[in-house]
Amino acid sequence: MTSSADAVTPSITVEAHIGPDDRRRAMEHDVRSGLTAPAKHLPPVWFYDERGSILFDEITRLPEYYPTRAERRILQLHADEIVAAAGARTLVELGSGTSEKTRLLLDAMQQAGLLERMVPFDVSEEVLTAAAADIAATYGCEVHAVVGDFHRHLGTIPSAPGGRLVAFLGSTIGNLDPAQRARFLADLAAVTGPDDHLLLGTDLVKDPARLVAAYDDAAGVTAEFNRNVLAVLNAELDGDLDPAAFDHVALWDPQNAWIEMRLRATRPVSARLAALDLDVTFTEGEELHTEISSKFRPEQVGDELAAAGFAVVAGWTDPDGDFLLTLARPSSRPT
Ligand code: SAH
Ligand code: TRP
Repeated sequence: MTSSADAVTPSITVEAHIGPDDRRRAMEHDVRSGLTAPAKHLPPVWFYDERGSILFDEITRLPEYYPTRAERRILQLHADEIVAAAGARTLVELGSGTSEKTRLLLDAMQQAGLLERMVPFDVSEEVLTAAAADIAATYGCEVHAVVGDFHRHLGTIPSAPGGRLVAFLGSTIGNLDPAQRARFLADLAAVTGPDDHLLLGTDLVKDPARLVAAYDDAAGVTAEFNRNVLAVLNAELDGDLDPAAFDHVALWDPQNAWIEMRLRATRPVSARLAALDLDVTFTEGEELHTEISSKFRPEQVGDELAAAGFAVVAGWTDPDGDFLLTLARPSSRPT
């Protein structure tokens, strides 16, 4: 489906690869398999309804949540260099959300006289279309927004003659497990060409106390964000899960080098998801795994990129060494 979204800013296109039916089907599948498994789990994609996206935005401004500020700092210091090295006229952003930090890249591309097109790509249509309108109005460039799942729809990213800079920021790649990550990067390598570059944001391994605080803030915003996934299920699958019956849990797993987020039932819970004709019970203390956030060593990022078919061009950390931005290009094709 493609539609011209706005008469005032005619350069906006919204291309949707996920309609309400697909969303519903995918959710039904994930919820049925995840909530009937011996160790209950849900994939993170369902966090981001409208309220989830607003709560995530609040997370990025929390004193404990350093990754957004660290990544923004890197972009403030190095966006010009990144943009010059990539030389692209099209900026693609995967999991773009509000595209807030991305404006630093757009500013640099505009100043370099390169900016022609922005392609924000996200599952969350409301946030995506709002960001698309805002970017078109601010930069006057063409905006081609894609509503899609980056596990399934990378092949739909429009091609661009001058090359594309594909940004995947926020350490969203850390929310994929190692196997998903390898597949995602290989899929991305398969749809990029010799003129394209990848800009990958990864949070780095550090003091566990800081890591845990970033995912268990004093104001309880991350707890609200985590519990919101239950509200999403209730709303979309006609359910009666009580979010108040679950504690937010964030643990550092040193073996896997990831923060693990769970929801723990504080009492026995019986709930029904009427749309699935599914009854779900939790014993007191039983946990639902909702998210991992992997933390990286810099060498590991290069190794994983190389294994997927990317060659590192350059890397930058913030002055505190908390976060890494890596620029890479496909290595499997001649340059
Ligand atoms: N890039 C922003 C937002 C990060 S939050 C930042 O750095 O702050 C993660 C974003 O990825 C959300 O906007 C969410 O809707 C999107 N997302 C999560 N899973 C996705 C998937 N499978 N496909 C596409 N987008 C996804
Ligand atoms: N990509 C972000 C991260 O891993 C997403 C995120 C931040 C998140 N806080 C969260 C996901 C809390 C779930 C719960 O840092």
